[in-house]
Amino acid sequence: MVENIETIQNAIHQFEITDQKSLEAFRIEFLGSKGSVKELYNFLKTVPNEQKKAVGQQINDLRVIAEEKLNLAKETLENSSSTQKEKIDTSRPGDSFSVGTRHPLSIVRNEIIEIFNRIGYTVSEGPEIEDDWHNFSALNFPPEHPARDMQDTFFVEKDDDMELALRTHTSSVQVRVMESQQPPIRTISPGRVYRNEAISARAHCFFHQIEGLYIDKNVSFADLKQTLLYFAKELFGEKTEIRLRPSYFPFTEPSAEVDVSCTICNAKGCNVCKYTGWLEILGCGMVDPNVLEASGIDSTKYSGFAFGMGIERITQLKYRVNDLRLYSENDMRFLTQFTSA
Ligand code: DAH
Repeated sequence: MVENIETIQNAIHQFEITDQKSLEAFRIEFLGSKGSVKELYNFLKTVPNEQKKAVGQQINDLRVIAEEKLNLAKETLENSSSTQKEKIDTSRPGDSFSVGTRHPLSIVRNEIIEIFNRIGYTVSEGPEIEDDWHNFSALNFPPEHPARDMQDTFFVEKDDDMELALRTHTSSVQVRVMESQQPPIRTISPGRVYRNEAISARAHCFFHQIEGLYIDKNVSFADLKQTLLYFAKELFGEKTEIRLRPSYFPFTEPSAEVDVSCTICNAKGCNVCKYTGWLEILGCGMVDPNVLEASGIDSTKYSGFAFGMGIERITQLKYRVNDLRLYSENDMRFLTQFTSA
């Protein structure tokens, strides 16, 4: 009997199951109603009582071995047939997905940063929630200046000893840079600014600026002019010309507004330049000695210039965007038209 069990166990081990047919043959041979394991159970009746328990256990073990082999083989066969069904067609073209595009304001901001990087300007940043000192007082704004009015400025907190507001321009970063560094200083500060304006095609309550600052010994107005000419040619093309018109800002003296020759009509006159041939792009001037002193820089030793421009305005000129609201509406039809170099 025991010999018989061993023979069947060997037969189970040696049986090769390679497909559904041999799987079924295995089942019938060992586990079917007339299979060899079943037969062993029949023989069990003839075994003397005192051996029944031990022999019965051996037959049970044998059955388990056969069942396990059957189940494992079944699973393996099923898996291999399902991977066959899902075979990958490597000749199929891949699914394309869009990678998105940069926002036009980011494209132009990065281009401006690169232009100034090439002549040694670093990038500095400052907070969007700013105190009165950095946004106004240190920049020589007199207490009664209209820009300090609630109508122009979004105040975050307004009590006697603490006035916090959303910065109205990136000139505030000038002050922070001068407070923390000594000349030579050559830096530009891109960032978002806020003003209390009704939203329309031509005005928005937030927009973006880039501020420039250059402080060293013997910096002159001629340096300012040449820097801006270089910038305009790099940004709008070699043929671009600039013109400076006298202006006023509390933090610069003298001050000027800068126009570039109209890039759209080549200065012949069109509706964008209102038939003047010129487009205004920025404000600038020599940093007022009061501003240098307020930020801890010796105005008898150093001089410098500053300039500030709106990124929306420049993007409008480069890409002919005619409505400021488009920049913040997140309309994909608008946003996907721009590609960076
Ligand atoms: N801060 C000015 C504005 O927001 C722009 C500006 C003008 C910045 C002249 C300057 C400057 O640095 O020199 O309108």
